[in-house]
Amino acid sequence: TIHLHGPEAGAETALQAKPGDTLMQVAVSNNARGIEADCGGPATCATCHVYVREPFASQLPPPQDDEASMLEFTAAERRPNSRLSCQITLTEAMDGLAVDLPASQH
Ligand code: FES
Repeated sequence: TIHLHGPEAGAETALQAKPGDTLMQVAVSNNARGIEADCGGPATCATCHVYVREPFASQLPPPQDDEASMLEFTAAERRPNSRLSCQITLTEAMDGLAVDLPASQH
């Protein structure tokens, strides 16, 4: 299960996920609000921006170069725990992953 916390207080969506999917794919296939993913996944749009909550933020592998450079272009402020959800591939160990959604992706 993954948890998406919207920018409005109390807006939480829990989604079923399977290992190997990216967080972006799970959100988009469930029509979750708040993740746009205009480019469809190759880290070229920055509209799948999320803020990853601990303890998961520190457990994720650091962003690769393409994700790191695209994070410069997020519509909402970039924070230390900012990630592109298309670059987060889910594993068993990430069950319970929780992220906050930015107020805007554009
Ligand atoms: Fe475009 Fe993630 S879907 S950067």
